[in-house]
Amino acid sequence: MFLKLFTVFFFFFNLLFQSQETTSQSTNFTYNDGFNPPTDLSLQGITTVTPNGLLKLTNYTVQKTGHAFYTKPIRFKDSPNGTVYSFSTTFVFAIHSQIPILSGHGIAFVVAPNPSLPYATASQYIGLFNITNNGNDTNQVFAVELDTIRSTEFNDTDDNHVGIDINSLKSERTSLAGWWDEKGQFKNLTLISRKPMQVWVDYDGRTHKIDVTMAPFNEDKPRRPLVSVVRDLSSVIRQDMFVGFSSATGSVLSEHFILGWSFRVNGEAPPLALSRLPKLPRFEPKRISDFFKIGMPLISLFLIFCFIFLICFLVRRRRKFAEEMDEWEKEFGKNRFRFKDLYYATKGFKEKDLLGTGGFGSVYKGVMPGTKLEIAVKRVSHESRQGMKEFVAEIVSIGRMSHRNLVPLLGYCRRRGELLLVYDFMPNGSLDKYLYNTPEVTLNWKQRIKVILGVASGLFYLHEEWEQVVIHRDVKASNVLLDGELNGRLGDFGLARLYDHGSDPQTTHVVGTLGYLAPEHTRTGRATTATDVFAFGAFLLEVTCGRRPIEIKHETDETFLLVEWVFALWNKGNILDAKDPNMGYECDEKEVEMVLKLGLLCSHPDPRARPSMRQVLQYLRGDAKLPDLSPSDFSGSGMILGLQDGFSELGMSYSSSVFKGFTGGSIADSLLSGGR
Ligand SMILES: *[C@@H]1O[C@H](CO)[C@@H](O)[C@H](O)[C@H]1NC(C)=O
Ligand SMILES: *[C@@H]1O[C@H](CO)[C@@H](O)[C@H](O)[C@H]1NC(C)=O
Ligand SMILES: *[C@@H]1O[C@H](CO)[C@@H](O)[C@H](O)[C@H]1NC(C)=O
Ligand SMILES: *[C@@H]1O[C@H](CO)[C@@H](O)[C@H](O)[C@H]1NC(C)=O
Ligand SMILES: *[C@@H]1O[C@H](CO)[C@@H](O)[C@H](O)[C@H]1NC(C)=O
Ligand SMILES: *[C@@H]1O[C@H](CO)[C@@H](O)[C@H](O)[C@H]1NC(C)=O
Ligand SMILES: *[C@@H]1O[C@H](CO)[C@@H](O)[C@H](O)[C@H]1NC(C)=O
Repeated sequence: MFLKLFTVFFFFFNLLFQSQETTSQSTNFTYNDGFNPPTDLSLQGITTVTPNGLLKLTNYTVQKTGHAFYTKPIRFKDSPNGTVYSFSTTFVFAIHSQIPILSGHGIAFVVAPNPSLPYATASQYIGLFNITNNGNDTNQVFAVELDTIRSTEFNDTDDNHVGIDINSLKSERTSLAGWWDEKGQFKNLTLISRKPMQVWVDYDGRTHKIDVTMAPFNEDKPRRPLVSVVRDLSSVIRQDMFVGFSSATGSVLSEHFILGWSFRVNGEAPPLALSRLPKLPRFEPKRISDFFKIGMPLISLFLIFCFIFLICFLVRRRRKFAEEMDEWEKEFGKNRFRFKDLYYATKGFKEKDLLGTGGFGSVYKGVMPGTKLEIAVKRVSHESRQGMKEFVAEIVSIGRMSHRNLVPLLGYCRRRGELLLVYDFMPNGSLDKYLYNTPEVTLNWKQRIKVILGVASGLFYLHEEWEQVVIHRDVKASNVLLDGELNGRLGDFGLARLYDHGSDPQTTHVVGTLGYLAPEHTRTGRATTATDVFAFGAFLLEVTCGRRPIEIKHETDETFLLVEWVFALWNKGNILDAKDPNMGYECDEKEVEMVLKLGLLCSHPDPRARPSMRQVLQYLRGDAKLPDLSPSDFSGSGMILGLQDGFSELGMSYSSSVFKGFTGGSIADSLLSGGR
């Protein structure tokens, strides 16, 4: 009983002693979060720790070794002559070489008597031994090599193997790098694949079995080890040893990395927290990385420039094609043209396509992109928005008119400070080209009377046949266009109204053309059908005589008034002397005389004495006979004085210095209206 009790006591004592002993000699460490700062690590050769914590055993330097040792000694035995304890280690490594198919000489896990291997050489010696001490038992080095070069002097079978080395690079046992999966299938691994891989080294102190196991990153430890050998390490490993890594480069530039490491004596190495390990740098082929280093900024710069250019282009384009559109315009939508279309139709309003610069703006020829319809586009600059609505409404209503003696108005477009009117293109241009200043082509009387009749019926249509009275306000030869059959067509009607808004005479601005403006129009500022008739009278005279209503001689400052001149000739009894010598001899002199007299009648200073367009048309067609007028009829009615007054009044205005050098054309005649 006592003996039994003693035995039990002894057993417990023994157990306690043993466990105490075990505890004091067990060592473990783990590097999960990188090796930065390299605590308890001794770095030698070209080994460094990267800023993100990778243990970089070698860099791009040829024929160099690199070592990293845990600086604290590890107790492997309980006494110098004792047996080696079990130990276990695991680490994650990666090899990156400049050339994907070749590399430096690999990595070895080392257990060595000192925390350095000062005499070891590079290349095939992997920083473990040198040519003289390789294979000498006095080395007392245990290593597991991950060899990437086949060195025939060490009986290597290939250039991608894992070996267990004791004092020598001639391995005790080697295997092709790879792992055995759960189904017992062997799978190759390529050491220089640049991918991280995990290795486990386990030594069993009782069975003396050394196991080396390998697996791709993130795989669990395979159950079947890759290389195994039974060797008692007691003669190799001393009581206190140092553990670490060794690596060496040869002629190929390569980098060897350790990402994480744990070690333990008497027990399985603590598993690594793989997600916490530092990340490997991106291994791109150098050429591509250079390309990106130089190319990317250039490409980005180029793209930025393209983008800026595009924005500028779009903004400019937007500004260029900007239009104005008000709520009230919705109903006129189908009469509205897009500025962009007009821009393209006229090829950007080129000087080449300019048909003329007249009354209120320039006229350009164009061809509509879709329909190939020939158009004339008039650009009228107009700052004020006032009266625009009424004007556009009138334009649209005029657009609905269809009369063979009116230039068809197709529509309009409105922009900031500008109005564009789109007309049918008239191939023969404006009438004035055929009249004054020794024209290249002149018209004979037959053609002229046809034009006159056309214009008269057009004007009559505006005054009386259309649903409302439309006053043209700017009847004159340059506003009469000739179509393909030399029919006279009135253009530009109603345009003067844009400038002639406001019923308050105080603010009325007379618009029209000097020489065609009726005296009462300049006085009152009000346009009426009678003022149109007055202008038509001037038109009759200019077509028949081939002269402008007013001519100012630059040298003498002398003013020539066509009406006055014709009236004077009539007074002398030879009114036919006034006819244009350019219109040939084949003309009906009676008709010419009638037209001249009608011109004078229409130019009567008293609006009440002027005929209406209906009457004018009847006289011209011969449906009614022009009253048998004589100059004395004018004086007999007491109008001659008024007539002459009217003319001299005009003459004074024309010759006043303001209009010096003025030879016709349109004006916004605020000065005249101011002196009404
Ligand atoms: C590892 O070592 C530390 C002391 O460094 C100790 O506290 C811990 O218990 C050890 N862990 C194991 C599993 O041995
Ligand atoms: C490699 O590492 C060593 C030691 O840190 C350094 O002196 C050398 O310049 C490095 N070489 C290259 C190519 O980075
Ligand atoms: C260890 O062994 C050596 C020879 O093998 C011997 O000389 C030495 O005395 C031994 N030491 C102990 C403590 O047993
Ligand atoms: C090899 O290493 C040993 C020490 O282990 C040293 O004495 C010897 O000089 C070295 N030989 C060469 C060639 O470096
Ligand atoms: C092994 O190394 C020791 C010490 O460096 C030396 O004395 C011995 O001769 C070497 N043995 C062989 C076989 O080279
Ligand atoms: C190495 O290989 C050679 C030739 O195949 C052989 O003679 C030698 O015994 C081998 N050495 C070892 C250590 O296996
Ligand atoms: C593994 O590598 C060996 C030797 O390079 C080759 O013969 C074999 O086909 C490879 N197996 C696979 C599955 O790639």
